Amino acid sequence: MLFVLLNLSLCSSGQSNPTFYLRKGEKAYVLRKKPHGPLLPRAHKVSNISQKYQFTAFVLAPEIYSCTSLHLLCGRIFRDLSLPEVGPAERSALYIAMIETLAQLHSFDLQSLGLQEYGRGPGYCRRQVSTWKRQYDAAAHTDIPAMNQLAEWLANNLPADDNEETLIHGDFRIDNIIFHPKEARVLAVLDWELSTTGHPLADLAYATMFYFWPTSLKGLVNPSFEELISIYCRCRGISTTFSNFNFFLALSFFKMAGISQGVYARYLIGNASAENSHEFAKMVQPLAEQGLELSKRSSFSSTHDRISGELFHQSKKGKEILLKVKQFMKQHVYPAEKEIIEYYDRHGNTEEKWKKPPVLERLKEMAKAEGLWNLFLPDVSGLGQLDYALIAEETGKRFFAPEVFNCHAPDTGNMEVLHMYGTEEQKKEWLEPLLEGKISSCFCMTEPDVASSDATNMRCSIERDGNSYVINGKKWWSSGAGNPNCKVAIVMGKTKNSSASRYKQHSMILVPMDTPGVKLIRPLSVFGYLDEIHGGHFEIHFNDVRVPASNIILGEGRGFEIAQGRLGPGRIHHCMRSIGAAETALEIMCQRAAERETFGKKLYHHEVVAHWIAECRLSIEQARLLTLKTASKIDTLGNRRARKEVAMTKVVVPRAVLKVIDCAIQVCGGGGVSQDFPLASLFAYIRTLRLADGPDEVHLSTIARWELLDQSKKLTAKI
Ligand SMILES: Cc1cc2nc3c(=O)[nH]c(=O)nc-3n(C[C@H](O)[C@H](O)[C@H](O)COP(=O)(O)OP(=O)(O)OC[C@H]3O[C@@H](n4cnc5c(N)ncnc54)[C@H](O)[C@@H]3O)c2cc1C
Ligand SMILES: *[C@@H]1O[C@H](CO)[C@@H](O)[C@H](O)[C@H]1NC(C)=O
Ligand SMILES: *[C@@H]1O[C@H](CO)[C@@H](O)[C@H](O)[C@H]1NC(C)=O
Ligand SMILES: *[C@@H]1O[C@H](CO)[C@@H](O)[C@H](O)[C@H]1NC(C)=O
Repeated sequence: MLFVLLNLSLCSSGQSNPTFYLRKGEKAYVLRKKPHGPLLPRAHKVSNISQKYQFTAFVLAPEIYSCTSLHLLCGRIFRDLSLPEVGPAERSALYIAMIETLAQLHSFDLQSLGLQEYGRGPGYCRRQVSTWKRQYDAAAHTDIPAMNQLAEWLANNLPADDNEETLIHGDFRIDNIIFHPKEARVLAVLDWELSTTGHPLADLAYATMFYFWPTSLKGLVNPSFEELISIYCRCRGISTTFSNFNFFLALSFFKMAGISQGVYARYLIGNASAENSHEFAKMVQPLAEQGLELSKRSSFSSTHDRISGELFHQSKKGKEILLKVKQFMKQHVYPAEKEIIEYYDRHGNTEEKWKKPPVLERLKEMAKAEGLWNLFLPDVSGLGQLDYALIAEETGKRFFAPEVFNCHAPDTGNMEVLHMYGTEEQKKEWLEPLLEGKISSCFCMTEPDVASSDATNMRCSIERDGNSYVINGKKWWSSGAGNPNCKVAIVMGKTKNSSASRYKQHSMILVPMDTPGVKLIRPLSVFGYLDEIHGGHFEIHFNDVRVPASNIILGEGRGFEIAQGRLGPGRIHHCMRSIGAAETALEIMCQRAAERETFGKKLYHHEVVAHWIAECRLSIEQARLLTLKTASKIDTLGNRRARKEVAMTKVVVPRAVLKVIDCAIQVCGGGGVSQDFPLASLFAYIRTLRLADGPDEVHLSTIARWELLDQSKKLTAKI
């Protein structure tokens, strides 16, 4: 009675079994229509699953479409695992939704579902091995040694935790899932014939085994295997380190080989209708061999493109967190971009523009809850510079992202200073709220009246007066000072000491922004941009500003010492964030070059444009490699011994990134310099990096000095 009312053309999911989800009153039905033409034996059941199986199709998010008197839901089913019908971003989202659903199924409490009797108790893996062995033996037509070896290996290497029991689907694959017609949301999971209770990793390995297919599946690098595993584990709240994933992957291949053998056997006796059934015979041996190969592995990776992460040693924890950050960017940060841009469009002419868009605060809370917070600080995050550099690259892909993870300048540098040099009281008062993201800060070194790239020129005075210091002077380019939440400044100034060297005349001191005499004069623009989201860049005057003597950091005359410590690793992070920005620019460039045509061909078919694309890729790769080399050197030899590399990186990266952005602007034409693309503001921002933290020329002089020194050492060594 239900069929009559369906509008097939509307609901059919392409060439596959048309599948319908029906809801009438309290009841839900999933119907699959027999498709035209022959198919594999298992696929062509037209079943009323709600009747046949105890818990039918699992309906996760019922979404109801009105269709005459019935409520009808239709969704998408994808037959080809590489999902050729959608773009890469959507494919990634669909796979993520799939794996989240699996984690959800595995998190169900069997008791409360009334399924405590559903399975056959502990020993699922043992039963699986013997079941599939039996099935295979019954269908085998020739002797395949790999298959026998694999069976034996599995039987001898059953996991110690074979008593683990969750709901098991048994055939969890993307083509058994109904997705929302437009969104990347799972509506229902089908085909519960093999469901039982047992070890959840069996489902997980089976759902991800295609990553290890003998001839790797074309096009599926995004999402990566690691990403899916990491999401699954996060959803279930378990660690991503499985000691025995090799068993479960090997088991999945064994099972697949067994199934293929079965299909072939049915073909031999004339019971299989599919035209390609005879081809299944050829698959058994490669599947078994792959299963054997996987059984011997101890780590699994589907991505071979991130050479850089492997050339230099990335820690296991670093890899894990990097994955989580990537995931977080995809799931939460990229989608928020529009809302953030709208906020500034709306408030551009009011004082509201200095406040933070509400969505940013929400993102911060989420990142904090996931532990993706303060990753820049090794003592807090447990990450090295190399680990963090790769993370910084990810966050650099969107201009507002670093703050989401509490990893944005200048707060990071200031937190480093307080962490390394602050007293206990200073830490309690300022470092703690900064680490929690409750307040922000600024750094006041550069002065309008003197050439500040030579910091010994600095004139702002810090004078002792009894139990206080009194500060007088002008600063500018104090980034972040416009943020209403900016509560404290680290001010560098001169504490005169005639008996000390040029480099011991300056000190750093903490100045609460609400101290009388601190005056924000004006925001400075960067090529016309006020950079509100980062709190702007302000000119600030200090007129008889009095703070307690205990606000001095590390002691009088030690400003340069602190400045050295502040700017080592921080520069590398800046560089890696810029490389993330360059990746974004190159992505935009390629998209545009493929979208538009001039003089009869696509932009990228003009050779000059193709070459720009290639040159940009070269620049990015070179810049990244140097940055990672420097990060790795800091990790292994320390800040001081990596000074030359830090300086080189600081010069190379902004150059490379500017070149990429410039090319991207050119390819985007007029649009490239407009507000419709992020390129103009990116260019403005990256251009300042050739000045901020010291202009290129100062770094080049440093590099030359070290080079000459290194060469002279070589000379003396020869003699
Ligand atoms: C967007 C932005 C944000 C900033 N944020 C901060 C901040 O938060 N806090 C802060 O204190 N400062 C900040 N700065 C300031 C920045 O650090 C300084 O602009 C920089 O150190 C250069 O100092 P200056 O502007 O006084 O240039 P100057 O010292 O006047 O130098 C001008 C030029 O002289 C040349 N030059 C200088 N030295 C040499 C040399 N040895 N050999 C050859 N040529 C040389 C270079 O071409 C240089 O660009 C920021 C700047 C910008 C643009
Ligand atoms: C499907 O199952 C439901 C619930 O058991 C039953 O009431 C209905 O008649 C079945 N429909 C068909 C078409 O078999
Ligand atoms: C072949 O199919 C028929 C009809 O479905 C079935 O009765 C028979 O048992 C099958 N034979 C084998 C060997 O599976
Ligand atoms: C001034 O510098 C000298 C030499 O570095 C040092 O011994 C002395 O303690 C300094 N005076 C103050 C007040 O810091």
